Amino acid sequence: MAILGIETSCDETAIAVIDSPNKKVLCEALFSQIDLHNLYGGVVPELAARDHISRLVPLIKNEFEKNDLSFEILDAIAVSKGPGLRGPLLVGNTIANSIAYALKIPVINVHHMEAHLLMPLLDANPPSMPFVSLLVSGGHTLIVKVDEGGRYTIMGETKDDALGEAFDKTAKLLNLGYPGGPEIEKLAKLSQIDRFRFPRPMINSDCLNLSFSGLKTAVLYAVQKLDALSDEDKIEISNSFQNAAVDCIVSKVLKASIQENISDLVVSGGVAANEFLRCSLADAMPSNVKLHFPDLKHCTDNGLMVAHAGLMKIENSEKNYNIEARARWSLEENNNAR
Ligand code: KG4
Ligand code: ZN
Repeated sequence: MAILGIETSCDETAIAVIDSPNKKVLCEALFSQIDLHNLYGGVVPELAARDHISRLVPLIKNEFEKNDLSFEILDAIAVSKGPGLRGPLLVGNTIANSIAYALKIPVINVHHMEAHLLMPLLDANPPSMPFVSLLVSGGHTLIVKVDEGGRYTIMGETKDDALGEAFDKTAKLLNLGYPGGPEIEKLAKLSQIDRFRFPRPMINSDCLNLSFSGLKTAVLYAVQKLDALSDEDKIEISNSFQNAAVDCIVSKVLKASIQENISDLVVSGGVAANEFLRCSLADAMPSNVKLHFPDLKHCTDNGLMVAHAGLMKIENSEKNYNIEARARWSLEENNNAR
């Protein structure tokens, strides 16, 4: 069974084809719009949508030609249905549905964060359920328990900014490029001291929720206090910010892992590419907890995570040969599926 995955939820036009039963990757390609949005210091949704329109079909065609693949091999198309930017999502969904209609194959709607979460299951040594997952991206920060049946329980989440968003906003305050996460990480590596000792919001609260907007404001005040922002200031602010943000995440994830007594921790989403976060989690976790990260190129948005999530959905539903008759079924329940 071959599935084409399409990802257009933000500023990456990405595709991949995965084949079962061995989960073989037949092709994979990504066009990043970073240069387009860098001019504005963040993603401009309208420009992102227009760029997906011009890139997506040629990307698919080129990749199929390059890898000598025929459209006839496809059994389904998986597409990120959300969450994300509405315009960019609409482009991906419209094109996915058009191709599927022409080929007479089904479309599988994929939850973008679920696709990030499931990515480490593609590894040679996947985590075993139940596990805890830390999802850290530009729009979300979630600590999720995944139970044996693959059901999700949100144990904690950010009450305001997502972790990636906090990295991006801090980078903007320091006049660094977009996306800010990798820029902050690069500078932080050059500093040895925690000069600013920024606050760690909610770190001592009993719950597993997080908050990053106060941290971002602390960075703003620190910048305002400085007469001019020297290169050294940027390096040290980056390091102090990253220390504070990662401290908050590590303490809550540690708490969640102990609470659930799990043996596997999965970390995914764009910020999972951050080496300091990876090392800090590895240092803090009890030695019996195995950590799972996607490889660096599959931490940030990509087509393979969507194709893979689509394949898992199909495989799971194929195993579920149950006949269900629901006497009670509110019309409103279908709102979530749309
Ligand atoms: O998952 P993703 O590609 O897109 C969303 O679903 O949002 O995540 C993008 C986010 C951005 O905020 C970006 O700055 C952050 O991930 N990011 C990083 C790093 N690489 C990407 N943050 C910190 N360190 C990194 N190395
Ligand atoms: Zn993402």
